[in-house]
Amino acid sequence: MLDRIDDLEREALASLADVDSAEALERWRIAHLGAKGALKRVAAGLKEVPREEKPAVGKRLNEVKAALESAFEAKKAGLGASTPSRAGGAHLDMTEPGLAPAVGRRHVLSRVREELVDVFGRMGFEVAEGPELEDEEHNFVKLNMPPDHPGRDPIDNFYIEGEAHDAAARMLRSQTSTVQIRVMETRRPPLKIISPGRVYRPDTVDATHSFMFHQLEGLYVDRDVSMVDLSTTLFQFARAYFGADAEVRLTPSYFPFTEPSAEFYMKIRLRPDEPAQWIELGGCGMVDPAVFEAVGYDPEEWTGFAFGFGIERIAMGKHGVPDIRMLFENDLRVLEQL
Ligand code: DAH
Repeated sequence: MLDRIDDLEREALASLADVDSAEALERWRIAHLGAKGALKRVAAGLKEVPREEKPAVGKRLNEVKAALESAFEAKKAGLGASTPSRAGGAHLDMTEPGLAPAVGRRHVLSRVREELVDVFGRMGFEVAEGPELEDEEHNFVKLNMPPDHPGRDPIDNFYIEGEAHDAAARMLRSQTSTVQIRVMETRRPPLKIISPGRVYRPDTVDATHSFMFHQLEGLYVDRDVSMVDLSTTLFQFARAYFGADAEVRLTPSYFPFTEPSAEFYMKIRLRPDEPAQWIELGGCGMVDPAVFEAVGYDPEEWTGFAFGFGIERIAMGKHGVPDIRMLFENDLRVLEQL
């Protein structure tokens, strides 16, 4: 009996070595390990084995069964790895186009901000930063905004600490113009800076409003800066960023920190099925002498221009986004198109 078992093992392993396909392997399995296979037939002879030899024979049978099973698994793995197409089941077509992995990228607002910094950088503006948590002194007072200015209404601002109309009251900045003051307080002219950043206003959210948005502030202070320098800078920016056919215009306006002041408009198509409209990108003007005095610059000696744009507006114009909420909802189906 033990000899028969040894023979079976030897023969089975020898024939397994010749197996070279999944079909042949399956035939081998049925012939040796199947319900009517060689191992079962030999095992059936266990009945005739004398009682005292049964444990040894049974043990040997189990050993051979385990050996054949593991040899079978090893062969199966080897066939699968080396000759998949010969297996007949799963074909691998090497000419099929692959599945492109999803590649992430920066948010459209981050990209637009970087592009703006780049365009103005080429015109000589360097980036300056200021805090988002500000005080009234920098957000309003030194910007020449009187207490009764509509922008100072407490319900239009996020106060964090202290009472409205106290210069030390702490608030989330409502405009990046604060950075003009911060920079001029610590540096002497000439200077040429831009400052991109978040601003906060308790506006009701709709297609064109958000309680948090981004502005790009610009400030140029030197001797003999004129309104022509301002308009040239803004028109050059528009053409550099939106293309040579960008249509732009300045219209007179009012801001406490500039005199004269203007609004900067650009003709932009937000929806493909609508005509282009004039969209206000922001405000600008010549720095008001009162602002220079507030930071200790002599207004007889220094002149300057300033501007403040909404970055979302620019992103919406550049990418044809009709609703500001699309920039903040982070719906990948939208962001993947921008
Ligand atoms: N800070 C203004 C606002 O948020 C925008 C602005 C207007 C900025 C005129 C300026 C400027 O620097 O000169 O509405």
